Amino acid sequence: MTNIAVTGATGQLGRLVIEKLKARVSDGQSVVALVRDPAKAADLGVPARAADYDKPETLAVALAGVDVLLLISSDAIGQRVSQHRNVIEAAKAAGVKRIAYTSILRADTTPIGLGVEHRATEAMLRESGLAYTLLRNGWYLENYAGAIAGALGSGAFIGSAGEGRISAATRADYAEAAAVALTGGGHEGKTYELAGDESFSMADLAAETSRQTGRDLPYNDLPEDAYAKILESIGLPAPVAAMLAQSDVGASKGGLFEDGLQLSRLIGRPTTPWTDFVAGILKSL
Ligand SMILES: NC(=O)c1ccc[n+]([C@@H]2O[C@H](COP(=O)([O-])OP(=O)(O)OC[C@H]3O[C@@H](n4cnc5c(N)ncnc54)[C@H](OP(=O)(O)O)[C@@H]3O)[C@@H](O)[C@H]2O)c1
Repeated sequence: MTNIAVTGATGQLGRLVIEKLKARVSDGQSVVALVRDPAKAADLGVPARAADYDKPETLAVALAGVDVLLLISSDAIGQRVSQHRNVIEAAKAAGVKRIAYTSILRADTTPIGLGVEHRATEAMLRESGLAYTLLRNGWYLENYAGAIAGALGSGAFIGSAGEGRISAATRADYAEAAAVALTGGGHEGKTYELAGDESFSMADLAAETSRQTGRDLPYNDLPEDAYAKILESIGLPAPVAAMLAQSDVGASKGGLFEDGLQLSRLIGRPTTPWTDFVAGILKSL
């Protein structure tokens, strides 16, 4: 029996990975959810074990008997290197055979500041001696749901992404890629640069939203600090606002563009078109 475990399984990506795994596992493969709070995992439909990145004693118990592990990167920016180290060390001690890790697109060269902790985690994986698979995820299309709603309210999109092209994909598509890499063979030592088949600039996103709503919603590009200040003024904590503005500047330098089509190749179908995503968001508002 090959036991496949997923950390962060009650998060937005993790829930989708569990769903995709359930549809994909073959005889001889089983799935277990590793979660901070098992009470939140009751609806996942797979066994859940308590696992907190900050509590190595929970990791040792949770990882017993696990063969293949998906480490979903933590959302605790600034603490992720030590958290991920705890997981990798516990996995090694527990005899886990392979770790797949949700990294960032082109982690080795990305101009996006969030890449620092992903680079460090990738290095720890290489040094661990374990087999690993790097799932370098591009931006989620869902990251733009707030921007679309905001533009409908204010009359314009804002950002610091310039003319940078963004190859975003849905969480569901990244989750399916993870399920493929966890259940199939031949993914050891592989690094996948995962992104949507089609890219858009913020001006394209504004034009498409305008087209679908019949309104005139332009994109106004702002200097990094001005954009961060606006994000703070609408209630985001200063470090989050700064991180988002810096990520946009990274996008302006091409940090979110990828045209290698590795995501659609892994999942065996085209990625969900970004224009469909815009339509879905508009319908939900
Ligand atoms: N590519 C992108 O555009 C993008 C965007 C945002 C984030 N990300 C990264 O991708 C990851 C997954 O995305 P997501 O949308 O699923 O984020 P999410 O919904 O915030 O999920 C984060 C998951 O991490 C778990 N977690 C946090 N601290 C933990 C700890 N100490 N021990 C164990 N688990 C812990 C959370 O557990 P609980 O369920 O208990 O809260 C949650 O399940 C994020 O954590 C972040 O690293 C990527």
